[in-house]
Amino acid sequence: MLKVNIENIFGFVPKDEIYSLEARVAEANSSIYNKTGKGSDFLGWAGLPSRTFADTAELKRINDCASRLAGLSDLMVVIGIGGSYLGARAVIDALSSNFNALLSKNERRAPLVLYAGNNIGEDYHTELLKVLDNADYSLIVISKSGTTTEPAIAFRLLKEHCEKKYGKSGASKRIAAVTDSSRGALKKLADSEGYETFVIPDDVGGRFSVLTPVGLLPIAAAGFDISKLLQGAAGMENICRKECSFDNNPANLYAASRFSLYNLGKAIEILAGYTPNINYIIEWWKQLYGESEGKNGIGIFPAGANFTTDLHSMGQWIQDGVRNIFETVISIKEQCHILKVPNDANNLDELNFLSGKRFGEINKMAELGTSIAHVEGGVPNILISIEKLDETNLGEMIYFFEKACAISGYLLGVNPFDQPGVEAYKKNMFALLGKHGFEKESAEIRNKLKL
Ligand code: PA5
Repeated sequence: MLKVNIENIFGFVPKDEIYSLEARVAEANSSIYNKTGKGSDFLGWAGLPSRTFADTAELKRINDCASRLAGLSDLMVVIGIGGSYLGARAVIDALSSNFNALLSKNERRAPLVLYAGNNIGEDYHTELLKVLDNADYSLIVISKSGTTTEPAIAFRLLKEHCEKKYGKSGASKRIAAVTDSSRGALKKLADSEGYETFVIPDDVGGRFSVLTPVGLLPIAAAGFDISKLLQGAAGMENICRKECSFDNNPANLYAASRFSLYNLGKAIEILAGYTPNINYIIEWWKQLYGESEGKNGIGIFPAGANFTTDLHSMGQWIQDGVRNIFETVISIKEQCHILKVPNDANNLDELNFLSGKRFGEINKMAELGTSIAHVEGGVPNILISIEKLDETNLGEMIYFFEKACAISGYLLGVNPFDQPGVEAYKKNMFALLGKHGFEKESAEIRNKLKL
């Protein structure tokens, strides 16, 4: 079971101060469950794991579609951005071999998942098309609004490629869409082309949607067990709902700790892991917390680090730079494989003191040594430990972070479920590209840029 240990922040914030937030955290919880807080139309994620886990018909439909697409494909292209991309990638990367792309078809458990529409790179998408020329593939297109530019243009491109390659009716069997129940261009398109379609519930926002078909369909298509993922999340949902005390409720403890640290001037949180498998968990977390909290001139800046790699790049800054940071470490107890340092009779590299030791043990000592050094260097340290990287533990962790994020947002006094700031770049981009309806903005921006 996931645990949060905050002993290494007590040298910075007294324990009493954190525990004195208990009533405010309880209030945030009741705003979530009673739907009385800001953004209360978007609280569907709070009971989602148990609800979806019990919906065996929908789970079967997701798994059946995933197997059908997988059966047709060596490659699966998942098209989406932000909350319609990061959660699936986080789970798939965490559970896959680091070298999945290099494995043979037989060694790989399911199609290799590739991503599109998460950027507008011309070279990226050209190179992707070249890869797709020579492989059998399917597409999962995901957009709640159905109007986001990045995935929409990528889908237009890939749909055309797919139809040229397999014919219109062949392509429609290889494409599944995940979108809003009734609105948006993607819904209209999917209905008219006859794609299999899955719905993102109205009351679940993008960055809280990994446990809807947004994440579940690609994760199932990549060969992983979505029931276990939901079961893990439902277990955490239960704990977070029932356990009131800080000590037994990890989401409450994490939210209160980071809020206390923020009030102390620790404006940057670095989420660190010690295995590349969780790099995209960190990316997903950055989006979840960044979009939820950073508004009205406040909010903790969520940064990520991949240790020990980044100890040789950002390590100096973290140890010795401006003391406005704190660190949250995801610690994974068990590794999937056993690998030991070999003995060398000549010992010319003087490493025989490590002979026979597991890489995991050395990594753990790096983790412990780093946390001691960082705390002594003035960086408070929160430790989140999980048993291992599997579906159940990832499900627990996903729900834990979502719940703590909502509580954190309410403690800060912001609406954790909107993202008005994201519109600013879109408005300028549409104005510059001459989108219909943006004529006034277009004139203004062209004037500003003296175009
Ligand atoms: O969290 C969010 O709401 C956003 O990151 C969205 O997921 C992202 O902008 C993609 O939106 P959509 O799914 O509508 O294409």
